[in-house]
Formats: sequence, structure tokens, C-alpha cells
Amino acid sequence: MRKNIIIFIFSCSILEVYYESAPLKLRPADGRSIIRLSFRTCARFNNTLNFINAPNISLITMEIIGSKIKLRPAVLADRKKIYSWLVRSDLTSSVMGEPNYPDAPLPTLKEFCRDYNSSYFNPSGARAGRNFIIIAGKVDVGTVGYDLFDEDKSRVILDIWLSAKKYCGKGYGSDALMTICEYLNEKYKIRNFYISPSLRNKRAIAAYLKAGFKFTKMQRNTAKKEFGVDICEYDDNIIMRKIL
Ligand SMILES: CC(C)(COP(=O)(O)OP(=O)(O)OC[C@H]1O[C@@H](n2cnc3c(N)ncnc32)[C@H](O)[C@@H]1OP(=O)(O)O)[C@@H](O)C(=O)NCCC(=O)NCCS
Repeated sequence: MRKNIIIFIFSCSILEVYYESAPLKLRPADGRSIIRLSFRTCARFNNTLNFINAPNISLITMEIIGSKIKLRPAVLADRKKIYSWLVRSDLTSSVMGEPNYPDAPLPTLKEFCRDYNSSYFNPSGARAGRNFIIIAGKVDVGTVGYDLFDEDKSRVILDIWLSAKKYCGKGYGSDALMTICEYLNEKYKIRNFYISPSLRNKRAIAAYLKAGFKFTKMQRNTAKKEFGVDICEYDDNIIMRKIL
């Protein structure tokens, strides 16, 4: 049976009004990722986001489908969770803080919110920087995001962290990176993807190599000039790049 429903598109205006309730899958002609638009009923959305309260209004959520994971645009309600994954998980010591990374102290929530302001969690950030939640099965297992979006230079900077050790080594991180690169390439024609791990972070480097990133010779000072800001957080950052 057909229903009259108004749909708000989450991150881009592909459709404004839609009358079907089955998920809609869009597969780009030559891409591997699928963008799936699916309904969330208002009632369910209310519970998580307190968004809108009208019985016959539905909301479309966008999911970007990878091989092992899917990505959904993060919303402001995810920000505290994403922060705690970074500073209070059993992975924290492998990426920042004492004793392994005295050069990269843990940010306070206030500092984190200054760096990841609200535009990273709503569509207004699409052409600047945005975060996505990595979902494996039905579990939120981490976040991947882009920043310093530059359409003219066709490039972005990426960052990623998972929520717990138990999700590492299953290919989620490399798949999330491949998926977001393909999505940004398909949607905005972005071709150059940069990521800058610490040389000490062997697992991250292995995951990035698996996702198709290669080492560059770019030094911190050159990168600072190139990007207009310091993209390195550690004393021993390396800069890796993937080209699509
Ligand atoms: C970095 C991160 C996102 C990678 O995600 P992941 O899902 O673990 O990555 P993958 O499973 O796709 O690949 C990890 C690879 O590292 C390898 N690896 C694990 N520990 C390693 C080590 N000490 N040395 C070298 N390689 C290692 C794994 O074997 C795997 O390769 P394989 O599949 O060929 O065996 C995740 O580990 C993480 O969140 N780490 C903590 C936060 C972080 O470091 N973020 C990056 C900041 S730059």
C-alpha cells in the first residue's frame, strides 16, 4: 500500500519527496560502493535524536555500503561517544597519550569539540569536513572522517579510529577507508586522499597500505605550507596518500 510520506534527505538532496517504503539502492556505474537510502520511522528517530514528532513523517538515512562495513553520517548525538572511543578505549594508548605518545596528549572534551565542531555532524560540513560512523553488522565500531576538503585541489585529509581492540584486525579499518574514498570520489570527484599516522603506529600503517595508501616524502613543514595548517600531531608523523 502506498503512503503519503515526506522524506527529509539526510546529507544530500537527491530526492525530496518519495512514496515508497522499501530501501532504495543506488549503485554508481563503475563503483563498488552502494549508497542505500532507507526509511527510519519517526518514532524510532525520535528516540535517538529527539528530532521531530509527527506521525506520518519519515526520515531517510543514508548508508554507504562497503565490503565488510557500512558507513552512516555521524550526527551530533554521536560526538561524545566518538570522543570517548578516542580517549577512553583500550585502543587509546596505541594512538595517543602516555606512555607511548607523550607528544600527543589526550584532548579534553572541550578541545575535541572545538576541533570537531557541529558541522562535522550535519550536512553543512559536506564541503569542509564530516565524520561517519563505521557499522559492522549492527554495531557501531568506530569513526572515519574527512577534513580540509578542497574541491579545486581535489583532496581531503582523512582520520579514523575504532572503538575497541576487539574490532581491530578484522579488515574494518581498511574497508572503511576504501569506502569513504570511493564515496568522495563518486560524489565530489575527489582524487587525492591524505592520512598522517605516527611512524610508531604500525597497525594503522599496515591498514592504510592495505587500503591503497602509499608513503610520500612530504615533511611536516612542507605539509604545513601545502595545507595551510599543521596536519601532524606527532613528532614522527609520516604522510601517506592514495590517488583514485
Ligand atoms: C588503525 C585502525 C583504524 C586500523 O583498523 P583495523 O580494522 O584494525 O585495520 P585492518 O584490520 O584493516 O588492518 C590492520 C592490519 O594491521 C596488521 N597489524 C596489526 N598489528 C600490527 C603490528 N603491530 N605491526 C604491523 N602490522 C600490524 C594486521 O595484521 C592487519 O593486516 P592483515 O589484515 O594484512 O593481517 C585501528 O586499528 C584503530 O582504530 N587503531 C587505534 C586508533 C588509531 O591508531 N587510529 C589511526 C590514527 S592515524
